[in-house]
Amino acid sequence: CIGVFEVVKFHTKRHRASKMRVLLTGGTGYIGSHTAIALLEQNHDVLLFDNLSNSQRHTVDRIRHITGKQAPFVQGDIRNTDLLTQTLRDFQADAVIHFAGLKAVGESVEQPIAYYANNVQGTISLLQAMQQCCVYKLMFSSSATVYGKPQYLPLDEAHPTSATNPYGRTKLHIEEMLQDLAASDACWKIICLRYFNPLGAHASGLLGERPNGIPNNLMPYIAQVAAGSLPFVQVFGNDYPTPDGTGVRDFIHVCDLAEGHAAALPFLHAQNGWHAINLGTGKGTSVLELIKAFAEANEIDVPYRIMPRRPGDVDACFASPAKAHNILGWKAQRDIQEMCKSAWLWQTMQG
Ligand code: NAD
Ligand code: UFG
Repeated sequence: CIGVFEVVKFHTKRHRASKMRVLLTGGTGYIGSHTAIALLEQNHDVLLFDNLSNSQRHTVDRIRHITGKQAPFVQGDIRNTDLLTQTLRDFQADAVIHFAGLKAVGESVEQPIAYYANNVQGTISLLQAMQQCCVYKLMFSSSATVYGKPQYLPLDEAHPTSATNPYGRTKLHIEEMLQDLAASDACWKIICLRYFNPLGAHASGLLGERPNGIPNNLMPYIAQVAAGSLPFVQVFGNDYPTPDGTGVRDFIHVCDLAEGHAAALPFLHAQNGWHAINLGTGKGTSVLELIKAFAEANEIDVPYRIMPRRPGDVDACFASPAKAHNILGWKAQRDIQEMCKSAWLWQTMQG
């Protein structure tokens, strides 16, 4: 934690923070593409680096269409250290935001090697490339999953960390590796942003989340049920100790999340060392509340059925967003209705 004096000092510097050149690994993915827009809108220069394993090249054109600015794109894998080094050099990057990685919990249980190779080995390769080019500012996409089973709520950054699956363990390993790195050399400035549950899509309907196959996550599943591609939402458990018995999560609009990265850039520039910061709303919403909000916001039927609990799920998980507010001056602005409307617009524009 930084003290009040440092926060005041930081806020003074924040107004003076200048334009930065930022390389986004995983820049054409769901969160990366929305963040690219938030950064371009704040006049930063952005380069998108992605192997397109879970995104599409046309995202680059859509970002240009939305912002009127061309972000250069390099197709490549983060494990290709030479390509990353060359790209960082050519672009003269000041900072990296590291989104690239695999993210499906179930898949990580079946294919742990792929997850450690992509996420952990990929991050090591990125750090080596950054070190070679003396680029020492890094923001990393971490997750609320590093808190494991909540011991208290809301979850603040001091909550103990643990992992319950290989995906979560890759996030935890990377966070620990980054802590070691920051402790080893005072040049490094590192922020781990711990996302809660991102939902929704850009208001244009041009960007959003595109899951492969049957969605694992709740919102894309709801959207596909509403579209008639799936018959009903399976509500995993209604006997949790929550107000309506269904799971409670901190759903955050992806554009708010993206703006959180933009708000964190001046802090990244000004501070040294390693910091973990939650990006959430602080508000818990249940699975049934989300289904009903989606149906009401879009005036559409969303059939659902109560099913047994999904193994590994926790009853409730929501953030204390106080640190992000105090240090970054950032707060989520958009409500559940906006998340539901934008998710449906994105779904309908997919055809
Ligand atoms: P995404 O799959 O849409 O984006 C990730 C991008 O990284 C994709 O475009 C993919 O093609 C690319 N990529 C994957 N492996 C790569 C590699 N080896 N080299 C280069 N590019 C590679 O996922 P997202 O939802 O945008 O998530 C971004 C980050 O945020 C991930 O690290 C994820 O673990 C983390 N996160 C996501 C959520 C969520 O619910 N979406 C929650 C918490 C944390
Ligand atoms: N749920 C259903 N039916 C579904 C899908 C989900 O009832 O078809 C329920 C789950 O049981 C849970 C809630 O909806 O109660 C949210 O589930 P998600 O799968 O959408 O999200 P999780 O909270 O399980 O996990 C997500 C990401 C993780 C990330 C975490 C951060 O998948 O990678 O948010 O909080 F780490």
